Amino acid sequence: MELQTKPIEALLEEERVFAPPKKFREQAIIKDESVYKKAAKNPEKFWEEIAKELEWYKKWRKVLKWKPPFAEWFVGGKINVSYNCIDRHVKTFRKNKAAIIWEGELGETQILTYWDLYREVNKFANVLRSLGVKKGERVTIYLPMIPELPIAMLACARIGAPHSVVFGGFSAESLRDRINDAQAKILITADGGYRRGNIVPLKKNADEALKETRSIEKVIVVRRVGEKAQIEMKEGRDLWWHELMKDAPSYAEPEKMDSEDMLYILYTSGTTGKPKGIVHTTGGYLVGVHITTKWVFDLKEEDTYWCTADIGWVTGHSYIVYGPLSNGATSLMYEGAPDYPDKDRFWEIVEKHKVTIFYTAPTAIRTFMKWGEEYPRKHDLSSLRLLGTVGEPINPEAWMWYYENIGGKRCPIVDTWWQTETGMIMITPLPGVTRLKPGSATKPFPGIEADIVDDNGKSIKTGAGYLVLKRPWPAMLRTIYGDPERYVEQYWSRFPGMYFTGDGAKRDKDGYFWLLGRVDDVINVAGHRVSTMEVESALVDHPLVAEAAVIGRKDELKGQAITAFVTLKEGVESSSNLADDLKRHVVKKIGAIARPEEIIFTAELPKTRSGKIMRRLLRDIAEGRALGDTTTLSDPAVIRELKEKYEEKET
Ligand code: PRX
Repeated sequence: MELQTKPIEALLEEERVFAPPKKFREQAIIKDESVYKKAAKNPEKFWEEIAKELEWYKKWRKVLKWKPPFAEWFVGGKINVSYNCIDRHVKTFRKNKAAIIWEGELGETQILTYWDLYREVNKFANVLRSLGVKKGERVTIYLPMIPELPIAMLACARIGAPHSVVFGGFSAESLRDRINDAQAKILITADGGYRRGNIVPLKKNADEALKETRSIEKVIVVRRVGEKAQIEMKEGRDLWWHELMKDAPSYAEPEKMDSEDMLYILYTSGTTGKPKGIVHTTGGYLVGVHITTKWVFDLKEEDTYWCTADIGWVTGHSYIVYGPLSNGATSLMYEGAPDYPDKDRFWEIVEKHKVTIFYTAPTAIRTFMKWGEEYPRKHDLSSLRLLGTVGEPINPEAWMWYYENIGGKRCPIVDTWWQTETGMIMITPLPGVTRLKPGSATKPFPGIEADIVDDNGKSIKTGAGYLVLKRPWPAMLRTIYGDPERYVEQYWSRFPGMYFTGDGAKRDKDGYFWLLGRVDDVINVAGHRVSTMEVESALVDHPLVAEAAVIGRKDELKGQAITAFVTLKEGVESSSNLADDLKRHVVKKIGAIARPEEIIFTAELPKTRSGKIMRRLLRDIAEGRALGDTTTLSDPAVIRELKEKYEEKET
């Protein structure tokens, strides 16, 4: 593994500092730094105090059992996540408070109060039970951003059936692999979804996927699109959601789950071709997302909170569904694209619902910048009081643009670093306390011990290195589904005793963390994780391709874009048609997020004498840099020719 910490903007010393506005600080949930000290002094006690904010059927015997690298949190405790996210609030004045405000792409709005959510989740939990789903059995969910998605997740949590949500943008083959890995019994999908007015054929993809799965017994189909979706319902297998719900009983007793029972699996890309099923459990996960939502977003009773992620990713799991609902908040979810019907859609939604907290990705912010200030300016954004970002490093220019044009220079920005694996936000400002520096995620959350180390695992006080986590945290992944060895190898072997994040980071003289991007074979395209190996496997699966090397090239909007270097089989001619065909092939195999931006045909790939492809040199070429060290190449002429060819193409 090579450390490629060429942080571009981030290494330029950023001098601007933004202290929390006085009024914000005075009203903030966390107003001073004492929590950091308290948590550092006795982290287990700190987490234990937080756990008491939730309702447990049975208290834990021990806060943490740590047999590195396997952790158990709140050992012996019994709790139910759906009870804590719904029932707990229904018993209070929150019964008729909006839990979910849903904004459809076509302009519809649906508001589910906590009571509505309670009713729907209970009924759907009974539907699942009536179909024979038992505690511990996996349910795959492949839905668009419609209210049935959180309802289905919470119903699974209620009966103790771990869910595996598959992002609606994934292909039939990706869905198939995830169903097979989890050995899911039930699939929940929709006839289709909307994206920029087009129909996403979810049910058709599901039918395709199910040709090669054996575990699925029933498919529950939500009607979102209707006639236009032109789907077929398979007799004996496919059931309509609305028909099942019609007569479902209105109360389902929640399972008393052990703290360490599995809550969900979520697949994410790693350094190999096969996505990893990240396992999150019940008690610790809820404690982690509960408190980070409350403190990082300074979440108050009267807030209208909007996280723009898709629930198909971890951000949606933790910060649209579980974190906000655990806090009894109002969480907004939007079905569609930011530019549908026009480029001011987000700002129209902020104005319409008087959103107070807004959480999005840097890639979206850069896109808004490109579209221009006139779009946010059309709307009254004065309800906003706090902004957040997640998913990739934010460049200081985008930060400033966000701060000025969306936040009206009055809203702090929380740049939150975390991962599917961490389950919860790990490095972040606390908005009433932290002095912000544009482009820095600032400091670890209280109780979190993050560090930056060199190649030998030695801590680097100031400067760049590898980001590691040195102490277990409640929402950490517990394992990789069905593959504990890979869990150990992937996260805990590079630096013994430390969790390796796969990210590079720099620490400045004030102890602030600056994230520098991945240092492994994972690419971050518009905040989405794509594995170079996965794209390479998809390419070589094409009958005309001999070999492929995929890299992430710096891209102004998406952070990184995918460039593929491809050698064709003997006698096959390259052409732009073939390049398009290869791109389509990758979309079919993985999904649109993995579509290569450019495909470069080459007679040979640069390799070391031992036959390893030198991706570092390919990145140098694609990013227009002088070639680094080429002495280990078996044939240095290959790379020189490739560079010339690439530059010709560029001009
Ligand atoms: O490289 C880091 C980047 O996103 C990766 C995690 O991706 P995923 O598991 O898909 O989760 C994304 C949302 C939590 C990290 O390894 N990343 C995430 N947030 C930030 C970030 N990089 C820099 N700054 C961030 N705030």
